[in-house]
Amino acid sequence: MLGNFTYCNPTKLYFGNEALEGLAVELPKYGKKVLLVYGGGSIKKNGIYDSVVGILKDGGKEIVELAGVMPNPTSDKLNEGVRVARENKIDFILAVGGGSVCDYCKALSVSINCDDDPWDKYFIRFDEPECEIVPVGCVLTMVGTGSEMNGGSVITNHEQKLKIGHVFGEEVFPKFAILNPEFTLTIPKYQMVSGIFDIMSHILEQYFSGCDDNTSDYIMEGLLRSLIVSAGVAIENPYDYEARSNIMWTATWALNTLVAKGKTTDWMVHMLGQAVAAHNDATHGMTLSAVSLAYYRYILPYGTAKFARYAVNVWNVNPSGKSQTDVAQEGLAEMEKWMKKMGLAMSLSELGVTEDMLDGIVESTVIMDGGYKVLDKKEIKHVLKDSL
Ligand code: NZQ
Ligand code: ZN
Repeated sequence: MLGNFTYCNPTKLYFGNEALEGLAVELPKYGKKVLLVYGGGSIKKNGIYDSVVGILKDGGKEIVELAGVMPNPTSDKLNEGVRVARENKIDFILAVGGGSVCDYCKALSVSINCDDDPWDKYFIRFDEPECEIVPVGCVLTMVGTGSEMNGGSVITNHEQKLKIGHVFGEEVFPKFAILNPEFTLTIPKYQMVSGIFDIMSHILEQYFSGCDDNTSDYIMEGLLRSLIVSAGVAIENPYDYEARSNIMWTATWALNTLVAKGKTTDWMVHMLGQAVAAHNDATHGMTLSAVSLAYYRYILPYGTAKFARYAVNVWNVNPSGKSQTDVAQEGLAEMEKWMKKMGLAMSLSELGVTEDMLDGIVESTVIMDGGYKVLDKKEIKHVLKDSL
């Protein structure tokens, strides 16, 4: 049965190759002092920085820069951002980058006016913000996370070996997001492919849960089919605007909260991937691809009907004359072939994980209970070992 829910997504999107014009439209709604947050410098190389700074200056804004937000942003970097924002009495935060920069800015937005330690409050205790939240806008340059239109924020604490996500409410969603597919054309292939798998994983982790036949399942099958077609084009020609724009749009829909409404969700692949990254700082989508097949093959007996449906509706497996289990397994075999063709990480050892690290990764894994099988620690170790 489709469950009861409330749905609101307050993020305003500007999409297309002229989307940056939306920034000038939005800026007058916010205060004068803008914290311009970005990563390791890709936006300076590809010219996005100059375009954004030009619009901010034309809009009469005072700019304070905060650079160097790393992939898998850390709690230490968050503390640095809080200091900078407080010293400069920031009115508005503009994230220019990928999921890491967007996530970081959302964490910052709820920490600037908060007296508690943000890591402990939001990522250990999962408290909700009580302070005044500084508004965030986002210019997206890397596709995959969906962070541009959701309340998610994932922060890593290397000392504690934890990478934890807090899903904040609608008051923390970016006020607006600029989605220009051309901005993503300079992403290195490794990152592009990682982002594509991140999208696939977001959809699958909401799909493989529950046994209802609801609207979300059909939407997700459509999103997956579109993603597979566009990814096939983009891997051959990364400069294909049509393919890259479809991938960008699919990424947003995969995790802007819509498809999860009224149904249960799994999210164990993300918990495993995040635990891996807490130990080796690996690229997000690759941590997911490295563990997915071992996880899905392990839980397949507990959700065979849905895996068979996935095989037929997404991978065009012909079910006639085959058992449900055979059909389900064939779907995962098709997925595996596709993943290899995309150049995804197919094992944890490719990401530098060794067997002696597994116990630590098990300890860093948050166990979710919405999937077809709630794993215990022994089973988590088994899946990780199978992923090596
Ligand atoms: O730092 P710069 O120099 O900008 O380089 C980045 C970075 O090295 C580069 N890049 C980004 N745009 C580029 C570009 N290089 C060239 N041209 C461009 N246009 O790409 C690298 C990766 O960027 P990053 O932002 O780390 O990637 P992604 O968007 O995959 O974000 C990953 C983070 O998002 C979290 C992940 O856990 C991870 O910490 N997630 C957030 C979610 C959410 N908010 O809902 C959900 C996701 O599942 C995910 O967990
Ligand atoms: Zn993800």
